[in-house]
Amino acid sequence: MNAVSDAPVRIGLAGFGTVGSGLVTILERNADWIRRRLGRDLVLKKVLVRDVSKPRAVALPEGVALTADPDALVTDPEIDIVVELMGGIDAAFALIHKALHAGKHVVTANKALLAERGPELFALAAQKGLGLYYEASCAGAIPIVETLKESLAGNRIKSIIGILNGTANYILSSMSDKGLPFADALRKAQELGYAEADPTLDIEGLDAAHKLILLIRLAYGQNLPLSRLFVEGITRVTPEDIRFADEFGYVIKLIGQVHEAGGKLVAGVCPMLVHKDFLLASVKGPYNAVRVEGDAAGSILLHGRGAGDLPTGSAVLADIMALSRVGVTPNNTGFVTEPLPDADVLDLDDAVCPHYIHFTVKDQAGVMAAISKSMGVHGVSIRQAVQKGEPEDGYVPIVFLTHEAPERAIRGVLDDAADMAFIKPGTVHFRVL
Ligand code: NAP
Ligand code: HSE
Repeated sequence: MNAVSDAPVRIGLAGFGTVGSGLVTILERNADWIRRRLGRDLVLKKVLVRDVSKPRAVALPEGVALTADPDALVTDPEIDIVVELMGGIDAAFALIHKALHAGKHVVTANKALLAERGPELFALAAQKGLGLYYEASCAGAIPIVETLKESLAGNRIKSIIGILNGTANYILSSMSDKGLPFADALRKAQELGYAEADPTLDIEGLDAAHKLILLIRLAYGQNLPLSRLFVEGITRVTPEDIRFADEFGYVIKLIGQVHEAGGKLVAGVCPMLVHKDFLLASVKGPYNAVRVEGDAAGSILLHGRGAGDLPTGSAVLADIMALSRVGVTPNNTGFVTEPLPDADVLDLDDAVCPHYIHFTVKDQAGVMAAISKSMGVHGVSIRQAVQKGEPEDGYVPIVFLTHEAPERAIRGVLDDAADMAFIKPGTVHFRVL
């Protein structure tokens, strides 16, 4: 970094898509304000893209060159901070690795990369004494990285519960509030720039899982590999279950959560029924929300836009500005030990919560009794059981809400159901928050 206190900070931007365009727009629009806060200018030097001939939605400042050569950014001695907004793993890893080796601070929005290969990059950044900042990688505009790393640094974090994916939340809200089919809502989210280049990451819960891994690292100082995290997406959520949940007083949301139980972490991402009285139930569209409970601070709820050009660009810019303050000592993971230890996680079978189970059954005597008996055998206590609607081809939906039960017990019930001839295959099961 240029050591002269009022010298401009020079930025090499890798990626000029949704988020890159948002960043360039804010840099231009708020240049005077940024100078007033930092006492120096932020100057864009070069922009890396795949295809330099592609038309761009946002104009670059005069004299800023587009390049398709990653080395043009990392070998340029006039670039102080490399901002990685390309996405993907391999090319982004190579770029950041080289940038850190070249002595440049790095800002990234790439949660997939940091979830999967973060430990290597954080270790390198620590060894070099450089910043590797990533506010935009988690919940868009919401300052959750800063909150966990700095504002709540003195707290033991009891739990984090979040709606961490804007695309999934947009799809579920559009299905429940506007009756939009899943595929149409996903297409709209893609048009609006919320979805990942590969939208299966959004709808299969993996993007939320990547973010949860970053939050666990920040809150508990532990590394949790994706392979050890329970992840389920929203593709099984149907309008019928959204309607049944509504009748019970719930909405269905993709939830990422972690808490500590007996010294172990209980963590996972899955669609859950959220009671309408809970604040998270009213988080709609591309908005995200994260509730953190600290042992000293108590409960804090952050709510804001979780995706999109300007909201995400806002978080990227915050990191660039934090690293541009004169005399800054980078704080990347919030912990001094690198690498961080592996997470100690509870076996999912032992995780406990209430459950929603939707069976499609033959409309005949003894069915309810047989299911109730199975629940009794597995120690699952029923809170509500309702038969819904009129028979169709002789089958009707029966929906159960249970009291808290371990996963192991629910799996026992679902296995029994699979063997009962009067239950149609494809029983639906969601957890209840
Ligand atoms: P995007 O619209 O697809 O833009 C990606 C940009 O990177 C494009 O300009 C592309 O070049 C360039 N690029 C991709 N691979 C490259 C490579 N190998 N070499 C050179 N340039 C390459 O993506 P985005 O939505 O802005 O997302 C960028 C990052 O931000 C991702 O890590 C994403 O997870 C994260 N993020 C996105 C959002 C959001 O709301 N979209 C929110 C938070 C975080 P071309 O333009 O020439 O194709
Ligand atoms: N695809 C992500 C989402 C972008 O929909 O939340 C923000 O990280």
